[in-house]
Amino acid sequence: MIIKSLDHLKSISNKIAEKVSNGDYIFLIGEIGVGKTTFTRNFINYLQKKKGVKQTEVLSPTFNLLYEYEIKNLKVMHYDLYRIKTSRELDELGIFNENVRSIKIIEWPELVKTKVKNRLEIYLSYSDRDNERKLSILGHHKWKDYNENKL
Ligand SMILES: Nc1ncnc2c1ncn2[C@@H]1O[C@H](COP(=O)(O)OP(=O)(O)O)[C@@H](O)[C@H]1O
Ligand SMILES: [Mg+2]
Repeated sequence: MIIKSLDHLKSISNKIAEKVSNGDYIFLIGEIGVGKTTFTRNFINYLQKKKGVKQTEVLSPTFNLLYEYEIKNLKVMHYDLYRIKTSRELDELGIFNENVRSIKIIEWPELVKTKVKNRLEIYLSYSDRDNERKLSILGHHKWKDYNENKL
């Protein structure tokens, strides 16, 4: 489907945020500038607003690899794996240590080989127009029947 504008992206991320719970994984796949961080910022700010928590800045974790957000009963862990080059470095991040139940949003998840269960893969790409993007999704387990018609 086509994302027609930044507002349209917001409405899409809000709908996904409505369905999310701790234990979910959202994989954001697509090249630089397609909107992975913008999606995540909208998503986190929406949850903060919904839960009555102060909205915060949501910066790209390009250098820090991870930023965490405590939103009442939800915990969102926002990863950017762009700088991770080996599966050993990936292991050291401990993304799949399930002692902390949280929502994990992962930009650049290509190196991740673990087939985590409740996973929503979001594919973003450029479109002909500057403010448009293309989006497709592939859900697994809990997200299996989730598709673009729901957005
Ligand atoms: N429809 C759209 N969806 C997503 N981003 C858009 C859209 N239109 C314009 N943009 C702009 O594209 C840029 C996306 O950047 P960013 O979210 O940092 O990308 P990424 O994290 O994928 O590298 C932002 O400047 C955003 O304002
Ligand atoms: Mg980004």
